[in-house]
Amino acid sequence: MKQEVVFTNDIEAVIERVCKASAYDKYFVLCDSNTYDCVLPRLLSPYIANAYVIVVGAGEEAKNIESLAHVWRELSANGATRHSLLFNIGGGMITDLGGMAAATFKRGIDFVNIPTTLLAAVDASVGGKTGINFAGLKNEVGVFAPAHWVVISTRFFDTLPQCEFLSGYAEMLKHGLIDGTKHYRDLLSYNVAAINTETLLPLLQYSVGIKQRIVEQDPQERGMRKILNLGHTVGHAIESHSHSHSCAVPHGYAVAWGLVCELLIAHRALSFPSAVIYDLAHFVERNYGAYAITCEDYDELMAFMQHDKKNFNDKINFSLLSDVGVCAINNQIDRKEIEISLDFFRDLFHL
Ligand code: GLY
Repeated sequence: MKQEVVFTNDIEAVIERVCKASAYDKYFVLCDSNTYDCVLPRLLSPYIANAYVIVVGAGEEAKNIESLAHVWRELSANGATRHSLLFNIGGGMITDLGGMAAATFKRGIDFVNIPTTLLAAVDASVGGKTGINFAGLKNEVGVFAPAHWVVISTRFFDTLPQCEFLSGYAEMLKHGLIDGTKHYRDLLSYNVAAINTETLLPLLQYSVGIKQRIVEQDPQERGMRKILNLGHTVGHAIESHSHSHSCAVPHGYAVAWGLVCELLIAHRALSFPSAVIYDLAHFVERNYGAYAITCEDYDELMAFMQHDKKNFNDKINFSLLSDVGVCAINNQIDRKEIEISLDFFRDLFHL
């Protein structure tokens, strides 16, 4: 099913359009304790005001089976039917959890994602991936189920902390590298230190369009959608490493460093141009700083990478680029090559 993505700063008008488009019998809102306090009061729609509100805890820890059961229970106890509509209002945790709840409740009810972070707007809310963490594993259980509508506004971003903002921007850099147009250069020259939600909107719109085009070709990630994992194999390893060393870094920061590492891997494996890597590394160092690793961290990082993907023998499967905009999925890379790229990464970031 095609997903309707709307960019607007008049969310209330779009909500009215969405609600009038079908004969819904009841409206539900899912949010976390943060968006309940900070976002809900700013949404002046009668449909939202009259909806039954379901609140779960904030943060990735809440993306679990207990929260999912809580949403199902609340829907059930408050008369949701197959003709009810669920609004997921929040970051990626809420759109993942709410999407899964809606996709499975009574075998599927309509849902609308209203992302309130840049990261959720540019990535999680679009493309139909839903799910929860389970048995200690991230996104272990889930279904592909596109939101009927995704309503994206920069209206809520004015209160985002800079690190949240940069976290989403890393996914935009990823889309830019994959797309390979002037858009990527525009992203590198954008002043992320002085974000302006007006000037950001066209960049965000273009970025989401890149993801939409890929997802439309391969909604269930059987092939080309894997390129959206660019930067994430090393990025997830860095993120997990940071958690296990009690110095947790935001997801997008790990992706930014992961992108640099994976372009270094692509340089050796596929002759990705080094000048592009230097430019990105400078941008990342200036805005995200560095993630301090030594060669003593390599075993742990490799273990996280092994765990992350379907890997064969001692090789790790990577989605890479041979140039900006030239994608190559399913590259089997030797551990030795990854370690050499981590060495270069440390050199680039003066570690
Ligand atoms: N976050 C990558 C994807 O949606 O495929």
